[in-house]
Amino acid sequence: MYLILYLYNKLNYHFQNFSMTTEKETKSSIFNRRNNRSYFLIRKCTYNDLEKVKDVNERELPEDYPYFFYKSILDNYPESFLIACPRENPREIVGYIMWRVERTPSSNSLRLVNNGHLVSIAVSEEYRRQGIATALLKKSMAEVRLKNVTKYVLEVRVSNYNAINLYEAFNFDTANIKKKYYRDGENAYYMVKKVINNN
Ligand code: ACO
Ligand code: ZN
Repeated sequence: MYLILYLYNKLNYHFQNFSMTTEKETKSSIFNRRNNRSYFLIRKCTYNDLEKVKDVNERELPEDYPYFFYKSILDNYPESFLIACPRENPREIVGYIMWRVERTPSSNSLRLVNNGHLVSIAVSEEYRRQGIATALLKKSMAEVRLKNVTKYVLEVRVSNYNAINLYEAFNFDTANIKKKYYRDGENAYYMVKKVINNN
C-alpha cells in the first residue's frame, strides 16, 4: 500500500510532480530534493515516535500539547499521522503532520458532514524549504480524503507567512478570521479547501 516516491529537483518538479517508482510494496515513501543529495522518508507515526514528535513541536511551535493529546490523535487517526525522517536515520524525526476528522453541520443544511482538520504540522528549522511539509501534506491529505471528508480545514497565525504560503500553494482559501484564537491574543486565519468529487 505504500509507494516509493522520489521528489526530484526543486526547480524542475514541484509537488504535483512526485514521481513513482515501480516498487509498490515498501514500508515508506522516500523522497529526495536537489540532486540526490538529501533523502527523506515519510512514514506513519508509531507510539515509539511520539516523544520525538512532541520535541519537534516544542522546538518549532509555541502551541505545546501534553503527551496524551498526541497519543489520542494516534489512537484515533493513525493513517494521517505522518512523520519525516532522514533516510540514513529513520528514528530521527525532522517533521510531522497530524489530522483529526470532525463531524460538523454542513454550511447549507442540517446534515452532518466530515471535516479533515489539520491539527499541527512542523518541520525542524534546519530541514526547511526542501519540500518536507509539501510531502507530508500531500500524502496525509490523500489519507484524510479516504475518511469521506467534504473539506480540509485549519487555523494558522495571521503572522505565519511561511505556513500561509504553503497552504495557499495547496489552494486553501481564507474563510474567516478567528479573533484572539491563540493564547497570546493573536488572530488566526481559518483556511478551508473543499474536497472535490468526494464519493
Ligand atoms: N518563505 C516563504 N514561503 C515559504 C517558506 C518561507 N520561509 N517556507 C515554506 N514556504 C511555502 C513556499 O510556497 C514553499 O514552496 P517553494 O519552496 O517551492 O517556494 C512551500 O511553502 C512548500 O515549502 P516546504 O519546503 O514544503 O515547507 P517546509 O518543509 O519548509 O515547512 C512549515 C513549512 C511547516 C510551515 C515550516 O516552515 C515550519 O515548520 N514552520 C514552523 C511550524 C509552523 O508554523 N507550522 C504551521 C502552523 S499552522 C498548523 O499547524 C495548522
Ligand atoms: Zn485547529
